[in-house]
Amino acid sequence: MKIANYLQQKYSVNTYVDRNLNLIKGKGVYLYDDNGKKYLDLMSNYGVSIFGYNNQKINSALTAQLHKISTLHASFTSDTRARAVEKLIKRCGEKYEQVYLSNSGAEAIETALKFAVLKTGKKKFIVCENGYHGKTLGALSATSGEKYKQPFMPLLWNFVSIPFNNIDALRREIDKDTAAFIVEPIQGEGGIYVPDEYYLYKVKEVCQTKGILLIIDEIQTGLGRTGKFLASEGVAGDILCLGKGLAGGIPVGATIISEEIASAIPKHIHSSTFGGNPLACAGIISTLRLLDKARLVHISAISKYMLQQLRMIESKVVLEVRGKGLMIGLVVNKDQRNIILKKLQEENVLVIPAGENVIRFLPPYILTKKDSDFAIKKLIKVLKGID
Ligand SMILES: Cc1ncc(COP(=O)(O)O)c(C=O)c1O
Repeated sequence: MKIANYLQQKYSVNTYVDRNLNLIKGKGVYLYDDNGKKYLDLMSNYGVSIFGYNNQKINSALTAQLHKISTLHASFTSDTRARAVEKLIKRCGEKYEQVYLSNSGAEAIETALKFAVLKTGKKKFIVCENGYHGKTLGALSATSGEKYKQPFMPLLWNFVSIPFNNIDALRREIDKDTAAFIVEPIQGEGGIYVPDEYYLYKVKEVCQTKGILLIIDEIQTGLGRTGKFLASEGVAGDILCLGKGLAGGIPVGATIISEEIASAIPKHIHSSTFGGNPLACAGIISTLRLLDKARLVHISAISKYMLQQLRMIESKVVLEVRGKGLMIGLVVNKDQRNIILKKLQEENVLVIPAGENVIRFLPPYILTKKDSDFAIKKLIKVLKGID
């Protein structure tokens, strides 16, 4: 472990924190380090490993594809890609008719921005305070947070930030130059902020009335995370972005659009060597198969249980518990957040941060009550130790 940690730190560009943990394999909801120590995973690699680790169905689908053909440029037809895009479009709702596949969430956002400009001819975007859309230059322009952006100013085009969950601010900010409003149904990285129940419906109404596009970023909230296939179910955006766990752990981004937008996109204007590679597409087919009604019902049920248990914790350190589905934030004193993360790791429970003072739970969808009980027991122990 020491050598691996040393080498990684020495030879990788260290833009990440060092959790000082060498994880070498996974099975179900558990990860194992190089000493054989077992960890309960409540973060699913920032929302990617939605069916846990070593899922046999996903593994078989990926392995079979690997043995056939793993990469095939999108100018050629791939039967796997054809089935994946058809399946994905059929799950996303009527308004979404075509998908552009890429390799990460940030790339899905980059694509969305370019498509919005192509459709509208405009370059003003309204975004939300605390919003997160990735860190490539275009996505970063839409992301909130001076610490990420300051060294790279000036960033792209005209991005104007308004408070999340505020319809009046959106209405006020839209003008004749506005191309689109970009929003997460629940803010993830920013700190698990859940808006009012009808916020997205109202957003849609305002965008439609004022004639701007609505870009819904479901890279974190999508694919069952909130107990629905899409957190925005019932509200069709003009552009929808997915990523994270869509391809069974293989890198992927998806920008899903209406026919109206598709008609504004000329050939050659956007492409990616790896985008829509058959390996990722096999992962998409497998993931969509596993993400059935029963799984969504399980997510809602286990979420209800976990939220209930978390809300029963009595501790001066815990300020609030918020979230939806298996996207849960435990708000704590800012100074103690990272101490709690570290101590939970020492107690074999892996969670991740969000915002300034939030402990974020993004567990795999196979989490059971027993797993949740174990995590809560460990959390109570850690909180008692620092209360
Ligand atoms: C809502 C949202 N959008 C975009 C991204 C960027 O995705 P990626 O890290 O794959 O580029 C993330 C990543 O956490 C995200 O949560």
